[in-house]
Amino acid sequence: MVELAAYMTAQRARIDQTLDRFLPPAQARPAVLHEAMRYSVLAGGKRLRAILCVAACEAVGGSVEAAYLPAAAIELLHAYTLIHDDLPAMDNGTLRRGKPTCHIVYGEANAILAGDALLTMAFEWMARCTPRPPWPPGQLIQELAEAAGSQGVIGGQVEDLAAEGRPATADAVEYIHLHKTAALIRAAVRIGAMAGGAKETEFEALTLYGGDLGLAFQIADDILDATSTTEALGKTAGGDSIQEKVTWVAVFGLDAARQKARALVDSAIAALAPLRRKAGALEALARFMVDRVS
Ligand code: IPE
Ligand code: IPE
Ligand code: MG
Ligand code: MG
Ligand code: MG
Repeated sequence: MVELAAYMTAQRARIDQTLDRFLPPAQARPAVLHEAMRYSVLAGGKRLRAILCVAACEAVGGSVEAAYLPAAAIELLHAYTLIHDDLPAMDNGTLRRGKPTCHIVYGEANAILAGDALLTMAFEWMARCTPRPPWPPGQLIQELAEAAGSQGVIGGQVEDLAAEGRPATADAVEYIHLHKTAALIRAAVRIGAMAGGAKETEFEALTLYGGDLGLAFQIADDILDATSTTEALGKTAGGDSIQEKVTWVAVFGLDAARQKARALVDSAIAALAPLRRKAGALEALARFMVDRVS
């Protein structure tokens, strides 16, 4: 049995250390940019993608030490998506991780540029990492690029915005969620697996796990937006219905959303079968994805 809370606290500390150590100092010129980058990245956050990356590496018998830098690179990229997601032209968010959003503190132009710099830096860091055989050099970068690009996160964000105020259909919400969120979560798991030298069967199992978990995660985000509080979430609750977002809750209702998220977690855990007992942390993390309160 993995004691999840202790595991997450320990991993989060190592990931935060890695981020703090490799991000440029706040006073490095141009200071406003580096301050903004550090503000958004180090403001907190659950570090779930990074922890999944580390846990996937461990689950295939890799050394966790090989996973911290790729995991931190994924967190940089995630932080960039949040900064841009909160911009006035997108979701117009004013609170993130319990603090005013990047553009509120540093202005819109600096927030756009801080996001751009984090996106770029994520690839710089990933380029310093090499997967273990049989995975070829360059594969971690390619994985991140595909997940983040026009047929991944960006594709999902475009359709999310285009769908605002339009009829909420099953096809739309599935495309949006698989792309804007599940793609990066799946990539985090796959990158950890490659950093740990996963065998083909393990990699296939973890790919299924990551995809199911990624979709479950965004459904849980939709449920929390509809049911939780701004204080608990550290971001404004209830915004999805005000902005007429196409969410799982809007399309299927709250009960069906809860059922779907649970079914996806069960199927993610079932996919871990080939990893046997090594997958304890991944199994506990899967349950946490939908049981979480923030
Ligand atoms: C928020 O992600 C954005 C979504 C994809 C729903 P998280 O809920 O993982 O945000 P942090 O990193 O913990 O702040
Ligand atoms: C965000 O989805 C997905 C990305 C940031 C790529 P949401 O817009 O639902 O995320 P929150 O609720 O603002 O964190
Ligand atoms: Mg959004
Ligand atoms: Mg948003
Ligand atoms: Mg949301």
